[in-house]
Amino acid sequence: MPEIVEVREGRFERISAHSHITGLGLDSKGKAKFIADGMVGQVEAREAAGIVVKMIKEGKMAGRGILLVGPPGTGKTALAIAIARELGEDTPFVMLSASEVFSAEMKKTEVLMQAMRRAIGVRLKEVRRVYEGVVKSLKIRFTRHPYNPYTRVPSSARITLATRDEEKTFTVDSDITMELLSKGIKVGDVIWIDSETGRVTRVGRVKGVDKAKYYDIETETYISMPSGPILKEKEFVHVVTLHQLDLSLARQGGLISLLFGVPMEREISSEVRERVDKEVKKLVDEGKAEIIPGVLFIDDVHMLDIEAFAFLSKAMESELAPIIILATNRGITKIRGTDIESPHGIP
Ligand SMILES: Nc1ncnc2c1ncn2[C@@H]1O[C@H](COP(=O)(O)OP(=O)(O)O)[C@@H](O)[C@H]1O
Ligand SMILES: [Mg+2]
Repeated sequence: MPEIVEVREGRFERISAHSHITGLGLDSKGKAKFIADGMVGQVEAREAAGIVVKMIKEGKMAGRGILLVGPPGTGKTALAIAIARELGEDTPFVMLSASEVFSAEMKKTEVLMQAMRRAIGVRLKEVRRVYEGVVKSLKIRFTRHPYNPYTRVPSSARITLATRDEEKTFTVDSDITMELLSKGIKVGDVIWIDSETGRVTRVGRVKGVDKAKYYDIETETYISMPSGPILKEKEFVHVVTLHQLDLSLARQGGLISLLFGVPMEREISSEVRERVDKEVKKLVDEGKAEIIPGVLFIDDVHMLDIEAFAFLSKAMESELAPIIILATNRGITKIRGTDIESPHGIP
């Protein structure tokens, strides 16, 4: 899938101003250390954020909102980023400035909906039958190209895999051979071959095959020799977001142009989303998936208008909703799209 993403300068600038922040700087009891993790002071706000993080991790916070208010430069964005760092890799964190909601290509509600669905993760557990082992030997066989007799193409391979307990030799078809070649598999690599799809995964190098060489930057992962039978069932876990599932279903479902593929930044129909929700719920019921509610941070929230607020408050009540953190530096101000004044411009 090709990725062509426009670089939005504002967004990167905003993150880089906070690159010193690595967490909330709390101790194990949730008390703020005065200076830690790139944070200083704002002790009460950090401790409060710590409680929020704890509740999110325990799954006790889905579908609620938090409002951060303070003049510019008081650390609202910094706090949101620190929360994201604390939540860990698996928990989705999406940052949106309210002004981005008013984009020319998409409806306001669609921008918000996509942001919300990017902020909800699904941890999928999948049991696959794989061949796992260290490559002991690998011989590629070539054949003449069907249309060009002067070039040779890989036709099959003979591969010997070993674990601590077993050693077996297989011949594999041309598809798997291509996979082995394109992934650069060598003797001494630990690999998985999916028994159903033939997909090859390179896990790393087995410990002890390479003479110890130490560089400042170690890019290779060394792992110990796998044990047990070569053909085994393994559980794989991956985290995707609801938005990624929406996109992949929209693609498969033929709901998009066959000629041009799926436009990444276009609207996704509500039928697609309903089907994704239904599938995900089914997987959760079967114990094959877990929902990870993440965080949607909306900065300068006073810039949202009445319609956007109406959409948000309704969406927050739905079953699959992220935690929404809103930030603003306004006091009493007009709700955009109306003549009504209210605290922070929020209805
Ligand atoms: N408690 C803090 N400790 C260390 N740096 C902070 C803290 N709060 C804010 N900063 C830094 O100060 C700058 C302004 O904070 P920012 O979060 O952008 O404010 P706001 O979003 O409220 O306008 C940023 O570079 C931010 O990383
Ligand atoms: Mg800010």
